[in-house]
Amino acid sequence: MLEIKNLTVIFNEGTVNEKKAVDHISFTMNDGDFVTVIGSNGAGKSTLLGAIAGNVEVTSGEILNNGYNMTHEAEHKRAQYIGRLYQDPLKGTAPHMTIEENLELAYSRGKRMRMGLGGRKEDEKLFEAACAKLGLGLEQRMKSEVGLLSGGQRQALTLLMATLQTPELLLLDEHTAALDPVTSNKIMEITENIVNEHHITTLMVTHNIENALKYGNKTLVMSQGRILKILEGDVRKNMSITDVMKLYNNTGDALSDSAILG
Ligand SMILES: Nc1ncnc2c1ncn2[C@@H]1O[C@H](COP(=O)(O)OP(=O)(O)OP(=O)(O)O)[C@@H](O)[C@H]1O
Ligand SMILES: [Mg+2]
Repeated sequence: MLEIKNLTVIFNEGTVNEKKAVDHISFTMNDGDFVTVIGSNGAGKSTLLGAIAGNVEVTSGEILNNGYNMTHEAEHKRAQYIGRLYQDPLKGTAPHMTIEENLELAYSRGKRMRMGLGGRKEDEKLFEAACAKLGLGLEQRMKSEVGLLSGGQRQALTLLMATLQTPELLLLDEHTAALDPVTSNKIMEITENIVNEHHITTLMVTHNIENALKYGNKTLVMSQGRILKILEGDVRKNMSITDVMKLYNNTGDALSDSAILG
């Protein structure tokens, strides 16, 4: 269970450039929850994910993972149990290493050096099988350099790397935004399959409202560093894209809080 308690992130505090990017946010994710996050540019979505991943310093509030207070834990330590994907397919993989080498690197992350014979061959089989599941033909190209792959193939590989050792949390920040619509759909299907298969607690930021409603079981609507609304259950199921757009239209400074916060 992930608990976000009264989380606030202020950039450049006390300077003229002070910016409260996340403003007293609280919410809880149960194990296996797949939560989508939407909201206009600058709403604080990436900052929220950064605070959870540890590359953004938290100003106040707490983040608890299964009761463990990780609010100020070093990013590299969290990386052992948090998988993360960004919009840019070039992030997250080493371009001059092969698919196999990239997977090996991800697989051994956080583990001690494994000893014994045969381990490597077994790993190779495991990687090949995992790639085959993606349905992109990567299993035929295990010795190819990752830099030669298309953006979609690369993003699929990054997803595999982030989940090969099942993470406790998966953070996806617009991970299909740079892909063409067909590839984007394919990556979303792969994402859903992996998340469901391993029951991974997942937080996914997207500007694609259709995907935000279609995937996962809850949607957070963010504006100006705050959560305007949490959509779930029947309300979410019956929500149209137009309904969600209306929420967006109501998120300006003239925001009618009572109408939106319910
Ligand atoms: N490192 C930083 N230093 C100063 N301000 C920052 C920093 N990172 C983000 N901000 C500001 O915090 C606010 C929230 O930014 P954030 O990137 O979290 O928005 P977002 O919801 O992810 O937007 P987008 O949809 O454009 O990705 C913005 O006003 C942004 O300019
Ligand atoms: Mg962002």
